[in-house]
Amino acid sequence: MTLKAAIVGTGAVAHLHAEALAADPRVDLVAVANRGARRREEFADRWAVPGRHETLDSLLDGEDLDLVILCTPPELHREQTLAACAAGVHVLCEKPPALSLTELDEMQAAADAAGIAFGMVFQQRTGTAAAHVRSLLDSGELGRPLLAQCQTLWLRQDDYYAVDWRGTWDGEGGGTTFGHGIHQMDLLAHLLGDWAEVDARLWRLAREIEMEDASTAIIRFDNGVVATAVSSVLSPRETSYLRIDTELATIEVEHLYGHDRGSWRVTPARGVDPERARTWELPEDDEPSGHIPLVRAFVDAVAAGQPLPDLLTHARRPLELVAAIYASATHGRSVTPEVLDADERFTTGLRAEVTDLRPGAAGPASSASGRE
Ligand SMILES: NC(=O)c1ccc[n+]([C@@H]2O[C@H](COP(=O)([O-])OP(=O)(O)OC[C@H]3O[C@@H](n4cnc5c(N)ncnc54)[C@H](O)[C@@H]3O)[C@@H](O)[C@H]2O)c1
Repeated sequence: MTLKAAIVGTGAVAHLHAEALAADPRVDLVAVANRGARRREEFADRWAVPGRHETLDSLLDGEDLDLVILCTPPELHREQTLAACAAGVHVLCEKPPALSLTELDEMQAAADAAGIAFGMVFQQRTGTAAAHVRSLLDSGELGRPLLAQCQTLWLRQDDYYAVDWRGTWDGEGGGTTFGHGIHQMDLLAHLLGDWAEVDARLWRLAREIEMEDASTAIIRFDNGVVATAVSSVLSPRETSYLRIDTELATIEVEHLYGHDRGSWRVTPARGVDPERARTWELPEDDEPSGHIPLVRAFVDAVAAGQPLPDLLTHARRPLELVAAIYASATHGRSVTPEVLDADERFTTGLRAEVTDLRPGAAGPASSASGRE
């Protein structure tokens, strides 16, 4: 039986989903919904989609669907997920899945009650190389992981923030940490597990936006790893970089928006037996990270009626990390999961204190005094 899919929000990222659906013979893209007619028609023409709707309600009323992929702005993800749950349609939701932990918990509870699959897009977890590195770490083969670095150094200029929902707390829900850094921090946490403590600052160094354009954080993980994480939209040589030093090896991945075998490097420590190090080499039959393996994993689970794999779940963890960074920057102290859970300001939203260092801004002294 062919599954019937729809995409809501036919903007930039929707094309990656359409491409992934087109690559999968078990699923047909039968309909789209988009608020603006021009983008809707252009998208539907390009991907030969017959059903065309202005709203999600009209889509859910008018089509017989198995699954819907939400590619709308973040502020809509909650209400649209709840509507799909009520209609009994499985949901794959673009990142960030929700604007707060409370929203995410509500969405997950609605999906569980309706018995539908609720998958979330964090595509950096996918790809053969990431799976290989994760199994090396999990098996203990590389010794104890000790130290990590996580960098999302991207460049977003004024044109990027010209879209009406960007650059505001209401539209985007958070700054570059939430919108961009979350991907690489998600991969870090996918490899290292749960976090234990976060110490962070948020900075506004150049952009005319309400939120931070850079953040710096120290993250301690449950397994004892200490990581530094930097997110930025100010970096002309753009890179996404992760490095984990274990007792026996350094693992690195450097890429921009997606990685493959060539992006990863495993460097053995001096003295490691070369025969042993050879077993750590990345598999030859490489599949890059991206929306194709992620959508395939979602369709696999829906088609088989199986629970979603952890490639598509555990969205709470990256969202917790971001919320903890925002809470720490605001309160001026380190944040543990227990402290975060009790902090309603950062479980229900992310509006945080940002230190503004732009020329002519209030400056570090007065901004810093904004920290509680
Ligand atoms: N996983 C990734 O790598 C990745 C990359 C880019 C964007 N994203 C995420 O995908 C989402 C969309 O981002 P984008 O860059 O494609 O945005 P976009 O602005 O290009 O597209 C959003 C589309 O949603 C439509 N829309 C708005 N309100 C609607 C409504 N009520 N009903 C139906 N359609 C509506 C808009 O008309 C627009 O066409 C965001 O959550 C973003 O963070 C993820």
